[in-house]
Amino acid sequence: MDSVSVSFTLNGEPQGLTVPPAERLLGTPRYRVGLTGTKEGCGEGECGACTVHLDGLPVNSCLVLTAQVRGQSVETVESRKPDTLEPFLAGGATQCGACTPGVVMAASWILEHPELLRTHNTRELMAGNLCRCTGYDGIVDSVTAALTRNRRA
Ligand code: FES
Ligand code: FES
Repeated sequence: MDSVSVSFTLNGEPQGLTVPPAERLLGTPRYRVGLTGTKEGCGEGECGACTVHLDGLPVNSCLVLTAQVRGQSVETVESRKPDTLEPFLAGGATQCGACTPGVVMAASWILEHPELLRTHNTRELMAGNLCRCTGYDGIVDSVTAALTRNRRA
């Protein structure tokens, strides 16, 4: 089979694409739709740089075939409001930025589901997102600051 047709929503916009069966969801937004926010790190499910939301759950898009997302909702970092990034910029959570799109998508999942913090702390919930630069304290502090801001809003 040379190609497969797949329909899904990407950041709320319907997509109907014809893709090679082995195309990864990691590359489809970048090379077919022009959304370049999602980054490739390891390419094998270890680093979380490629995190997107699939039907509301964070997944490593390097491990998902685009043909598998038929009928599902895909959200990339471009779907997040610019103020999602503010705590990260203010809190020293980003340096080279390679991990940041994945961190933002993992963090936004926590911000959307604060009940997760009843059973896990922020550091545990962010454990799937590796960062070579920050030492993680800035990331954890920024997520905590954003949670506090949301509680006050
Ligand atoms: S690039 Fe997908 S987990 Fe590292
Ligand atoms: S800021 Fe460089 S890898 Fe995280």
